[in-house]
Amino acid sequence: MGISVKGLVKQYAGKPVVDHIDFEIADGELVSLLGPSGCGKTTTLRCIAGLETPESGRIAIDGEVVFDADSGVVVEPYHRNIGMVFQSYAIWPHMTVFENVAFPLRVRRMAAADIERRVGRALERVGLGAFHDRSSQQLSGGQQQRVAVARAIVHEPAVLLFDEPLSNLDARLRDQTRAEIRQLQRELRVSTIYVTHDQTEALSLSDRILVMHDGRIRQLGTPEAIYARPNDMFVAEVVGAANFFDVTVDDRGAATDTSGATFHTAFAPPGSGPARALIRPDKLLIGPDPGGDLGPNRLRGTVRQRLFMGGYYEYVVETRLASPRVLSSAEFAEKAQVVLSFDSGDCIFLLKE
Ligand SMILES: Nc1ncnc2c1ncn2[C@@H]1O[C@H](COP(=O)(O)OP(=O)(O)OP(=O)(O)O)[C@@H](O)[C@H]1O
Ligand SMILES: [Mg+2]
Repeated sequence: MGISVKGLVKQYAGKPVVDHIDFEIADGELVSLLGPSGCGKTTTLRCIAGLETPESGRIAIDGEVVFDADSGVVVEPYHRNIGMVFQSYAIWPHMTVFENVAFPLRVRRMAAADIERRVGRALERVGLGAFHDRSSQQLSGGQQQRVAVARAIVHEPAVLLFDEPLSNLDARLRDQTRAEIRQLQRELRVSTIYVTHDQTEALSLSDRILVMHDGRIRQLGTPEAIYARPNDMFVAEVVGAANFFDVTVDDRGAATDTSGATFHTAFAPPGSGPARALIRPDKLLIGPDPGGDLGPNRLRGTVRQRLFMGGYYEYVVETRLASPRVLSSAEFAEKAQVVLSFDSGDCIFLLKE
């Protein structure tokens, strides 16, 4: 097991900011921690790294218990088998690139020849093979970030922790570096936690996503599962664009909105009564209005906005009670009368929050 966290609690001034969380990360797996600002992502990471002392819980890294409140085990950060990349990179400006990357090995009192070899290899891996002697002050943001990654992997840790490592980079460099981090993580097969509040980053990078809110875990699952089957409204909105329809669920599990449209779902509804039907923009099909009675899982509407996104259109379609977004390669003019339809497998009912 790469990382195991059980019953973790971290409080500041008596207020829990990490509130009894449990999760496990398999060997070589990349899990994103996704959630709004202040939900406890950095604090969770710092507890695993040993930079904070939790009030209770147990943390194991690569099978070794590094923190256990009950038995009083607290392993020092430098003795935990981890590498960490911070949002700020934390590159030391007075040191060369080589010395920055060598630091974790010097702390571990490794022999000079081994340090030379390992630092060289780590810098090669991040594409900075020619930068050994460069002063850290003469690096671009993207290069500093690579130095931080090289320093995190140089001692071949069992676990990598990333805290929003790309947030200081411009959009293009961010896309490129994200792909490189994923590639590197796969090659090294190192269990990784990747903190972000960028849903696209979490969806594209992760084996699984852990959605946090107010110090607790709302859902842990594959990107596909979290996108298609969120547990609640919060998760639905954190991961991907969401269309919601106010409906009333009957005892048989079907729902109607007050305009009389009927929604069927392939999944067990959360109970009867007021709820919201969630259908993602890519799961609403748009077509011409055939007229007459439409039947279930169909809504009449008018195209209010059409944006050409290159390869597909993004529409805003006004129906009687909502104006969902729809992605489609089919072309309809603004003001066109259309019918939106969806599959029962792409509609889920969530309780109102
Ligand atoms: N040293 C500290 N002393 C007191 N409160 C703290 C301390 N560090 C963090 N907090 C509080 O704990 C909560 C969680 O903070 P944390 O940094 O873990 O959030 P985060 O999810 O990483 O947010 P962000 O996305 O903004 O980085 C916040 O309310 C924060 O104000
Ligand atoms: Mg943070």
